[in-house]
Amino acid sequence: MQVPDIIIAIDGYSSTGKSSFAKIVANEFSFTYLDSGALYRAVTLFAMENGFIDADNTIDVPGLEKAMEDLDLHFGEGGTYIGDRCIEEEIRSLAIAGKVSPIATVPQVRSFVDKKLREFGKKRRIVMDGRDIGTTVFPDAELKIFMTADPMIRAQRRAAEMEAKGMKAELSEVLKNLQERDHIDSTREVSPLTQAADAIVLDNSHMTIEDQMAWVKNIISERFGC
Ligand code: CDP
Repeated sequence: MQVPDIIIAIDGYSSTGKSSFAKIVANEFSFTYLDSGALYRAVTLFAMENGFIDADNTIDVPGLEKAMEDLDLHFGEGGTYIGDRCIEEEIRSLAIAGKVSPIATVPQVRSFVDKKLREFGKKRRIVMDGRDIGTTVFPDAELKIFMTADPMIRAQRRAAEMEAKGMKAELSEVLKNLQERDHIDSTREVSPLTQAADAIVLDNSHMTIEDQMAWVKNIISERFGC
């Protein structure tokens, strides 16, 4: 399938399988996959390690804003990096998941991340997943997909994924965390999680990855005649 030079924006709720889906779509069409959530998670790790967020999620916004001026955040071999330190594994922990949505409400954090994401998007032929890719980061993306799934199914998938990586994952904790993040992400003032008017909904509660691939190929061939 010869897909034109488009941007594919995938948004949706926590743990709907956006990144797994985005990766196989990118692989199938030889696109680059970019995980916007990883950058929010990385800023969260940075904020936690440097004391810009406390136990009750109070954020030192001026301090964080100033420190981000020298924050070298990028993607490299094996995932996400701060300088030459690979942080890919650390940013997937429940400790980071518990703080990332408050950090992602900070407008200065969003503009820091958006600037990086738009830079990556200049190349086109990318699949990017997140919460506001089709609405804010790339409102002109040629294909926008909004992913959703039953919360319990999402929690089971995320817990299994964490356990497979040897991380501790209590199902009730994982469910609670994803519901909290859904709430914060959907109700924040700046770039809340909402379905773009021109996005197509994919509810994958009862779909395999193969079903999802067949679904997206069908849409792409109809829309772009390839
Ligand atoms: O993998 P999962 O869907 O659980 O989350 P993620 O994509 O790694 O994103 C982690 C968090 O970053 C989300 O819960 C949002 O609070 C924030 N985020 C955002 O605000 N905007 C984005 N474009 C991507 C992530």
